[in-house]
Amino acid sequence: MLQGKKIILGITGSIAAYKAAYLTRALIKKGAEVQIVITPSGKEFITPVTLSALTGKPVISEFFTANDGTWHSHVDLGLWADAMVVAPATASTIAKMAHGVADNMLITTYLSAKAPVFVAPAMDLDMFAHPTTQHNLDLLRSYGNHIIEPGVGELASHLEGKGRMEEPDRIVAYLEDFFKNRQSLSGRKIIITAGPTYEKIDPVRFIGNYSSGKMGFALARCCAERGADVVLISGPVSLSTPHASIRRIDVETATQMYEVAMAEYPTADAAICCAAVADYAPAEYSDTKLKRSSDTRTIVLKPNKDIAAELGKTKRPGQYLAGFALETDNEADNAQGKMRRKNFDFIVMNSLQDAGAGFGGDTNKISIFKGDGTTVEYPVKPKNEVATDIIDTLSEYLSQ
Ligand code: C5P
Repeated sequence: MLQGKKIILGITGSIAAYKAAYLTRALIKKGAEVQIVITPSGKEFITPVTLSALTGKPVISEFFTANDGTWHSHVDLGLWADAMVVAPATASTIAKMAHGVADNMLITTYLSAKAPVFVAPAMDLDMFAHPTTQHNLDLLRSYGNHIIEPGVGELASHLEGKGRMEEPDRIVAYLEDFFKNRQSLSGRKIIITAGPTYEKIDPVRFIGNYSSGKMGFALARCCAERGADVVLISGPVSLSTPHASIRRIDVETATQMYEVAMAEYPTADAAICCAAVADYAPAEYSDTKLKRSSDTRTIVLKPNKDIAAELGKTKRPGQYLAGFALETDNEADNAQGKMRRKNFDFIVMNSLQDAGAGFGGDTNKISIFKGDGTTVEYPVKPKNEVATDIIDTLSEYLSQ
């Protein structure tokens, strides 16, 4: 997959820069051509001599070569690349990338690069967890850049936590996977419903649920990375659109989500219903804020449409539909029952009995039940890897 690929490897000032030498070697072993761009502080951690010995090319760091005044064109370099990988990426470089602070060769190259960009953060756990860093990573995701999540373990500070740069072999595997799947869903229109719905009681109150939208957004991103035309129908969430090519339609209520989904599905190849749709909405909406009283109050609820089931009724041959089942008990039977009732081709089950599964968190643990009676169980994984497993399954159906 990496044979002949031209890769810019950006190295920044982190202790994990030593791993960049292994990464360089691993990429070259796979047949890639590697051009290294290093920041001034990156050179404090690993010498350009080591790196150029591995790549067989001069390492680029400054805009000009000091001794002969040669200008290094970041524009040419950016256009040359099939991929740009920034590993390790410090908090500072991530912030500069997010905000276009083009004060070194690595950032100017990044701004000029048309190729996909992969970022492998490496920093102390508190720096990684800081809202600024997380916000900047979200910005990079919204530009379509790929964040290769750091691992959890002992850090250079001897503290334990999330911040270790992903291992070079895993970064190579990530790139191989990316190039393998890149255009595999090109020309396919895929709908993803995500997040909760809010059902209004009065101008300031609603009935909602704890869904964060993370799983649905990860699915949308995975489909977009494989070249699909993605329509992401999202309830109220605080997430930015995870890929520049995604068409996102924000809704609030189950009825709005239903209307958009029904309008989009006839021209879609597949839909994955990931939203936690409210099953009921208040039968009456009060235009004015309900006043407090000492009496008990009853809110009468009316059922909402089951969006997934309605899509299932209209499904035509060659179109696919999948959904989720979040269960607390009797998981397999409940999930399979839902799959049949809603006319899903497969259903993704997560159990609230399992640690690391369900709403809100960054991980999930799923089983996929297929219409042909087969089941695949997966271990706890980050939600973006879970999304890959689900989209791999959908891709099998689409290629039938
Ligand atoms: O029946 P239950 O709500 O557990 O089914 C969950 C599945 O159905 C999910 O895929 C969810 O997105 C979908 N669903 C829906 N519309 C509803 C309720 C659930 O699309 N009103």
